[in-house]
Amino acid sequence: MGASGSGKTSMRSMIFSNNPASLTSRLGATIDVEQNHVRFLGDLILNLWDCGGQDAFMDSYLSTQRSVIFSHVGVMIYVFDVESREMEKDLEYYRDCLDGLSQFSKDANVFLLVHKIDLVRDTERNAVVQRKVAELEKASGETPVKVFGTSIYDESLYKAWSNIVNTLIPNARNLSKHLRIFAEACSATEVILFERTTFLVIATSSRTDSSDAFPSGPVVLHALDPKRYERTSELIKAFKQSCSRLREEFRSLEMELAEFTAVLDEMTKNTYVLVVVHDPVIETAAIKMNICMARKKFE
Ligand code: GTP
Repeated sequence: MGASGSGKTSMRSMIFSNNPASLTSRLGATIDVEQNHVRFLGDLILNLWDCGGQDAFMDSYLSTQRSVIFSHVGVMIYVFDVESREMEKDLEYYRDCLDGLSQFSKDANVFLLVHKIDLVRDTERNAVVQRKVAELEKASGETPVKVFGTSIYDESLYKAWSNIVNTLIPNARNLSKHLRIFAEACSATEVILFERTTFLVIATSSRTDSSDAFPSGPVVLHALDPKRYERTSELIKAFKQSCSRLREEFRSLEMELAEFTAVLDEMTKNTYVLVVVHDPVIETAAIKMNICMARKKFE
């Protein structure tokens, strides 16, 4: 949900159809609701509704189509253009959508994206997002919401969507537990599991249990970049696009640097695993063998 032009279809086409950001300017306005069934992790099907944001459509969702639009909602993602000149109107529609949810899908999670943050100067970005968070939390009243600043031009989009999708994966915590055991077996600093097509992070070996903390960093001896998960998603997707331009298929990646070794390889039919090891004694071949041996368990 969100006003026309706020960027809903752009983010959907990047995350789920692997289109580059540069092509989004060619997208036309969405007419009514575009429904997509995205196969995610094999058996899990995400039923994604992209609701065109022109006023006439919004008015219809909130009146005649209300029960259809707001029933059986797992997550509502409301996109606000950071430069919107009609914030009052956006908030009015948003509050009405929250009403619709409380009527038909009480347990739905709500994510709010302050989108196009690339349009705000670097130095002002944090302050602008903080201001928006306060404004949106106030407008949400009692409803718990998670707010993210996002842009299709950097990794922020992947952080938000990994969090969104994580709330929909039934066994995400269990996966993290198994990844922790696997990380210990490999003497790895960290192990990250990615969904195969979207490359969204679905679990990490991070030691935090609270879902709020996902995907904040684990307590480890090495200073790890807090943006490492979403940066990896973004970089690998760009690399995959380059591979497909050369008509090559992306299979796996190995890096042996002075400070660490990293192996990215298929874990199951629907996932990729990234194993990062800082111990120089551990050979890449050993990491690969461990991945190979763990496959059956994770499949
Ligand atoms: P409706 O279909 O009418 O509801 O609009 P929408 O919300 O789906 O908007 P759409 O995805 O079509 O995007 C509108 C324009 O915003 C496109 O030209 C995109 O290239 C641009 N856009 C999307 N995301 C971003 C972003 O993060 N930053 C910037 N600068 N532009 C963006």
